[in-house]
Amino acid sequence: MSMVDRDAVRAQYRTEEHLAVRTTVWHPTADGRDPATEALAAVVAATPRSYVEVGCGTGMFAARVADALPDAAVLALDQSERMVELTASRGLEARVADVQDLPLPDDSVDVVAALWMLYHVPDLDRALGEVRRVLRPGGTFVVVTNGDAHLAALRTEAGGGPLVTTFSSDNGERVLRRHFDDVRRDDLVPRAVFADRAAALAYLRSSREDVDWDPPADGWPRTYDGAVTLFTCS
Ligand SMILES: C[S@@+](CC[C@H](N)C(=O)[O-])C[C@H]1O[C@@H](n2cnc3c(N)ncnc32)[C@H](O)[C@@H]1O
Repeated sequence: MSMVDRDAVRAQYRTEEHLAVRTTVWHPTADGRDPATEALAAVVAATPRSYVEVGCGTGMFAARVADALPDAAVLALDQSERMVELTASRGLEARVADVQDLPLPDDSVDVVAALWMLYHVPDLDRALGEVRRVLRPGGTFVVVTNGDAHLAALRTEAGGGPLVTTFSSDNGERVLRRHFDDVRRDDLVPRAVFADRAAALAYLRSSREDVDWDPPADGWPRTYDGAVTLFTCS
């Protein structure tokens, strides 16, 4: 049985509310690097004429790709109708689709990107097989995910523990190598700043885990390390 609860993932992304709580707290690494900006650089470096993003969320990253590559065909896919609606409202082509069953021909795409989404997918090998199928030979797959150390200090202080997922900085490379010959990684430590206990609590609760979160009462604002990896595969 898959460790991923598909109904919970659908419920989580039925609206943009939970995602919005989580995106606002992040700041770049100590040396000024931002994971999404690094991922954008990896996409641009591959000079795609066709770009497909799976699990596009609100379409923020796809919009940056479209701005950076005005001549490329950009298609954004998500399993959530609301996310597709939000992405389309940016003037992008967006469709409802599951990464495990891509509605695209073989060898048809130059770059596929999957940012913070593969840990939601029930059958990872099937999803990666689909990405490989639609990528043209020599095409590039750009992936971003979190590691077990992501906000682990906050999670532990607040009464939980590290969040261990099915596709992380720690276990993701192994599964990617089953489908791609060349897998390069870039590990980043962005920082999350929480203004107060309520902000930390809202963040922790947004993931819908079964934990009775209890962040520290004082010492706010507090800063915690994230753990993010950019994989570039071909
Ligand atoms: C954590 S959000 C990340 C969104 C966006 N990539 C970003 O970086 O902000 C995960 C997204 O993946 C989508 N998703 C989850 N499982 C999916 C699947 N099997 N196929 C396509 N999209 C999926 C969710 O609906 C959600 O929009």
